[in-house]
Amino acid sequence: MGIISVFLKRTICGKLICNMRDQLKRFIDAMEPDSVAIIPAAHEQVRSYDTEFKFRQDSDFWYLTGFPEPDAVAVITKGAKNPYTLYVRPRDPMMETWFGRRQGVEGAVKNYKADKAYSIEKFEGDLGKILDGHERLYYRFAVDKKLDQTLLTYFTEQRVQRLKTAYPPHTIIDPTPILGEMRLHKSAKEIELMQTAGNIAAEAHILAMKKVKPGMNEAQVEALMEAYMKDKGASGVAYNSIVGGGENATILHYVENNMPLKDGDLILIDAGAEYQGYASDITRTFPVNGKFTKAQREVYDVVLDVQLKCIDFTIVGNTHLQRQEYSIELLTEGMKKLGLLKGKTKDLIKKKAYMKYYMHGVGHWLGLDVHDAGRYYVDQQATKSKPYAPGMVLTVEPGLYIPPDDKTAPAKYRGIGIRIEDDVVVTKDGNLNLTAKVTKDPDEIEALMQGPARK
Ligand code: GLY
Ligand code: MN
Ligand code: MN
Repeated sequence: MGIISVFLKRTICGKLICNMRDQLKRFIDAMEPDSVAIIPAAHEQVRSYDTEFKFRQDSDFWYLTGFPEPDAVAVITKGAKNPYTLYVRPRDPMMETWFGRRQGVEGAVKNYKADKAYSIEKFEGDLGKILDGHERLYYRFAVDKKLDQTLLTYFTEQRVQRLKTAYPPHTIIDPTPILGEMRLHKSAKEIELMQTAGNIAAEAHILAMKKVKPGMNEAQVEALMEAYMKDKGASGVAYNSIVGGGENATILHYVENNMPLKDGDLILIDAGAEYQGYASDITRTFPVNGKFTKAQREVYDVVLDVQLKCIDFTIVGNTHLQRQEYSIELLTEGMKKLGLLKGKTKDLIKKKAYMKYYMHGVGHWLGLDVHDAGRYYVDQQATKSKPYAPGMVLTVEPGLYIPPDDKTAPAKYRGIGIRIEDDVVVTKDGNLNLTAKVTKDPDEIEALMQGPARK
């Protein structure tokens, strides 16, 4: 059975659609009175000439509908007896023979619980019926250019008519803030899915620790991890994996993953699985030959200590900005300990001296998108950040990257890049690490790498 049909089957049989129905209901509750929302699915993207990238559904559309096909549009009408209409690709035996099965109008109702469904070909002609007589429209411009144009054409025609024919919405609202806030607070069911995504990725990292050895290519490590993820039910990776040996680990978004791994080097792997649309995001750094050098271990211990402290900091009440500042303070102290920086911590922070070795955030929201939806700030000026609350999922991923040609760093540390990343859900009285299954303890890593399972 092909991957697409496995995915469809799971989607239809699981409780996933009920879950989405609940999310849709909460979205409707949050909509203003007398409003209608138009939420488009993603489209297939050309990879080369006439072939496409593997399709990935738009996260907001997925969150509300669970419908897995491209080119659909959800129309959600607040206050209507049947508020949820899906416009979908119609059944078409010839197209389905060439390009794969379609749910069609019948499947959209039967399997995806739309109140009503129509062919997407009818959407443009139905716009007047959908919009006329409603005060507000929820729609996000500048994502789907073609749909933007369809809507603008409708509004242009209405203006030309001087609104004689009907009364279109006079207020257009971006639904992103509502959806972002909803997606930021995960339900118990979502956490369950994210735990599965976390477990699958963690096991893939364990496999890598068992299999990596000098002479292997980074590409082989990437391949064995991704094969494992799919084998365990993930639809694939949640983002392009980073598999960097030696100095490649100092390039933050190194995705070429095509160099041989050298004895004596470290390998940094940042790889996560996507399960039922949800991402996991794990980084582990370990020695290619199974044994840290003294210098590697010194840098590793600094990053690990910061990571553990920042996990402890990811609790109710602490804010996102506070956590970032905390990570900067701890890492600056660590850089001083290693002899990378000299001076007073306060001055080094003020001068942003740490940026030479630590230049990214300590973490981000995680969910359907790896860098998930939801605002980090509570004010428009982005000066006050949100306090953490139960159900928020965050990564914790401090790192140190010492450029190979950095003449000011002790020679023994040059070219070392280390990041350690876990996914944490904030709970009422602490947090839960969703990716704890793969160790980051250096002694345990060495034991695992040198153990009997390694062939
Ligand atoms: N893998 C992307 C990130 O860690 O943010
Ligand atoms: Mn990552
Ligand atoms: Mn991350």
